[in-house]
Order: sequence, then C-alpha cells, then structure tokens
Amino acid sequence: MKLNLSLDANLEEPLHTQIFIQIRSLIVSGKIPLGALLPSSRVLAEELCIARNTVIFGYETLIAEGYIESRGTAGTFVSKILPDDLIGVSNDQKKNSTSDNVDPEPVLCFAGSPGGDGASSRPEIDFWVGRSAPDSFPLQIWKKLLVQTLNSSGLYIADYSDPAGLLVLRKAIAEHLARSRGIEVDAEQVIITSGSQDGLNLVYRLLQNNYKKVYVENPCYQGAVFLFQSLGIEVIPIPVDKNGMIVDQLPTDHSSIVFVTPSHQFPTGATLSLERRKQILKWAEATDSYIIEDDYDGDFRYDGPPLTSLSGLDNSQRVFYLGTFSKSLGAGLRLGYTVAPKPFNAQARQTKAFMNNGQPWLEQVVLSKFLEMGEFDRHLRRVRKLYKRRRDRLISCIEKHFPETSVSGFDCGLHLVWHIPDDFPTATEIQMKARNKNIGIYSLKSGAAIDLNNSTADNIILLGYSSVPSDDISKAMKILQETINELLLNSSSKKPNRQSRLNNQKHEQHSLHEV
Ligand SMILES: Cc1ncc(COP(=O)(O)O)c(C=O)c1O
Repeated sequence: MKLNLSLDANLEEPLHTQIFIQIRSLIVSGKIPLGALLPSSRVLAEELCIARNTVIFGYETLIAEGYIESRGTAGTFVSKILPDDLIGVSNDQKKNSTSDNVDPEPVLCFAGSPGGDGASSRPEIDFWVGRSAPDSFPLQIWKKLLVQTLNSSGLYIADYSDPAGLLVLRKAIAEHLARSRGIEVDAEQVIITSGSQDGLNLVYRLLQNNYKKVYVENPCYQGAVFLFQSLGIEVIPIPVDKNGMIVDQLPTDHSSIVFVTPSHQFPTGATLSLERRKQILKWAEATDSYIIEDDYDGDFRYDGPPLTSLSGLDNSQRVFYLGTFSKSLGAGLRLGYTVAPKPFNAQARQTKAFMNNGQPWLEQVVLSKFLEMGEFDRHLRRVRKLYKRRRDRLISCIEKHFPETSVSGFDCGLHLVWHIPDDFPTATEIQMKARNKNIGIYSLKSGAAIDLNNSTADNIILLGYSSVPSDDISKAMKILQETINELLLNSSSKKPNRQSRLNNQKHEQHSLHEV
C-alpha cells in the first residue's frame, strides 16, 4: 500500500510527528481501512528518503496510541478498533476531526444503539458504568400496569397534563424520598423530568441569569461538564479525595453553582463525608450559591448506613436535588425528577413548560402505580441483592487474579474503581487489548468521566458490574489476567520492573503447581 505522505523538514514539527499525524488522519478518515497492512518501516523510509529510525519513531507513537499494532514478522497493521471508538467518538466526529476548520462535536457519553434495540458494537462482556441489569427490569408487572392504565383511562392520552408532572407521581416520589433518603419535601417541589440530564438543563435555566460560574468535582461526570461548557458557563474544577469534593477549596466569592455527586462521587466512588456535607451547605448559604446534588445511583448502598442527602440536610433552600430512574429501573424509560427549593416552585414549573411541556402521561401513570403499590421498594430490595453479589464476585476475582492491585468506591452505586500499579500497562493499553477479546473495561476518560486538569495518571479502570452476570465476571477477569500478562511480555524489554513482575508471577504460578 502506498501512503503518499508529504513531509516537510522546514516545519516546526519533527518528521516522525508529521508521520504520526498524517497516518492517524488517513486512518481516522477511513482512507486506510481498519486492519490494513502498512508498508514496513524500511520500505516507507526508502520511499520518503529519510532515516528508517524516523519512521520507526512515528510508528511507535501510533502503536502507543492504539491506531496501529505490530504483529511481529507478519508486519504492522491498522488496529481493528480505534481509540476514538473506545472513547465514544462517532463516525461523523471522526470525519470532522480531520478538518482543522471544524470544531469536533462533544462526545455523547451515554449514547446507545440508533434502533433502540440494544444492537450496538458493545463487547460481549461489558463493564460499562452505570447500567441496570436488563433482565431485572420488572417487565411482567410493568406490562400489566400499562394495559390496565390504557383500559381504564387511556383517553387522557389525548390531553396535555401538568408540565411539572402528574401530581400522583410527584406525591409518590416525595413519599419515597422521605422514606429512603431523609428528604422532606412537598409534592409541588418535585418536577418530573426525562432523567437527570433534563433536570440539569432545567436547573441551569433557573439560575443562568444570576449565576455565571459552576464549580465541579474533579474528576467529574462528562454529562454535566459538557453541558455546562456547551452553555458557555465557566467550569472550575475542585479536587476530590477519599471523602469526596474538598470543600475547603471552594472559593468564597459570591453567586456560584456547585455540582456534586455526594452519595457516590462520579467517577471515584467516594462518599462525601457528613462533615463536608455540613460545610458545603454553610458555604452555599454564606456565598449566596446553589448546590446541584446529583444522586444518580444513591439507591444502591451495600455497606454501612446511608448518609442523609444534602437536600435532606438543607435548611436554607440551597439545594437542587436530581433523581433518576435510569439506574434503579432502566435508562430507556427516560424518567427522573428534580426537587427544587420551594421559592422556585412556580418558576420551575413554568420553565419545564417552556422546555417541553412535560413528560409522557402513560409512563408517569404506570410509574406512580408502581411506586404506590410498593413494587418499587420490592424491586430495589431484589436488585440491591443481585448487584451486591456481582460486586462481591468482582472484588474477589480482582483479589485472586491481581493481588498487587486495589479497588475503591465500592460501598455504593453500580461501578467501582480499579487501581493498577505503575509497572502495569496503562489503563488505555489494557482497555484496548481487552476490547480485542470482546471485553469492555474503561479508563477514566472512556468511562464517561473527565479530568479537567489532566492530572490523573492513566492507571484507573472503571468497572460497572451491575449488568454483568457473576459467571461472566469470573470469565472476564481470567481473560484479563492473560491479557495483562501478554502486554507485560510485549513490553518487558522496555520496562525492567515489568520483567521482574512477570518473573515473579511465573515463579508464583510455578510454586502453586508444585504444591
Ligand atoms: C453522574 C451521573 N449523573 C447522571 C446520570 C444519569 O443520567 P440520566 O438520568 O439522564 O440517565 C449518570 C448516568 O450514568 C451519571 O453517571
């Protein structure tokens, strides 16, 4: 294959970087097909009249970034799966990214299959974060309630209903919040939304005239950061540690918004300590600021008692609470709610009307019946047990196959964080190699998270366990162990520590056989 590269020794970029950029662009634009064999470094060097080492250098960068792979004597090939696919960049964006004039579109972190039929290029065993187990959805009872509702009051579908949501559902949610999250609110404060993302848009509209800055946890949920950035609001990162956002670091200037995930910080999984909860509430009051509490997976706490939500502790009407049924029931329902501070009741209802005149009537009726009958509580008890079993299996597999690694953020939610040591391959390397074996694991930036300071080392893997059956978890972890050993073998010549880790492992395996 002839690549027709055109290099210019007068440019600032060195020749090997020009090779990297041009070949990457040819791959991303589809001009070189996936899996294609590239010319050898010797042939390309001769064709370009440059030193062979320059080409080798360019190829090595492409290999490190996952665009091409070396298969020993067989040659160097374009990867079958590109890094851009792994971080969710669509084909359209790839086309755009080849042109300097077009801003790439933001990544859609939770985009699913276009047909809505689940048919996507997701790997066979997929640890994608924050997904409910599809087969745990209470399909039978949902169907029964749907049919019942259509038979008894189906004609209401022809009408508009309250843009803030059906009162029966708002009441049922207020009761659920009091029971399970310690939040005492009037039904009028509850606005039914199309999930938390819709709630976030709603809250921003309520505050946008007077609040021009948003503080976010760093690292943070992409869905929130990308939304704020798209609205042109200044986004300022505040670091997190094992107790959640370091509230001390919030500036004391006035009139800001702060976005937090206190139950299970996304992505680190930390729980905001009670002390910091009180501190952030005081800060909001003192600085005339508002807190957006995103409680996306707070229904799932496995160890220890739940901490009262920020909204439940708030005595000065400073917290907007975002709730969602995406994790507890299913993201395809697109149902959630926002609890606004009382002074915003009328404005929130009006704004929701401006946005979309409210949510579909049928699903709201069914969900309200589901809650009133106690089915939601029963469902939560059932899936909590299931997800806890899956979480425990995952942790024990990690301990068994990777004793030198550690996990965190597993008390709550649907994903945990796997920390890999420095002399392991990077998270991205492991992710890409695993993907070729049909296993989906996710580095920080591919797992719907963003590090605004770019300061996190590539040694964190996010593992969503809720939708993966226990046997698949065991199978995947075994394959991952082989995968990581292969990577260690391939790169051991470059990193002496890796060689010694592999020797140790071989030695350990040997001694196990001998016992
Ligand atoms: C931090 C965070 N917030 C919110 C959501 C859910 O958004 P939605 O309710 O719009 O589905 C997710 C989804 O995974 C999330 O990770």
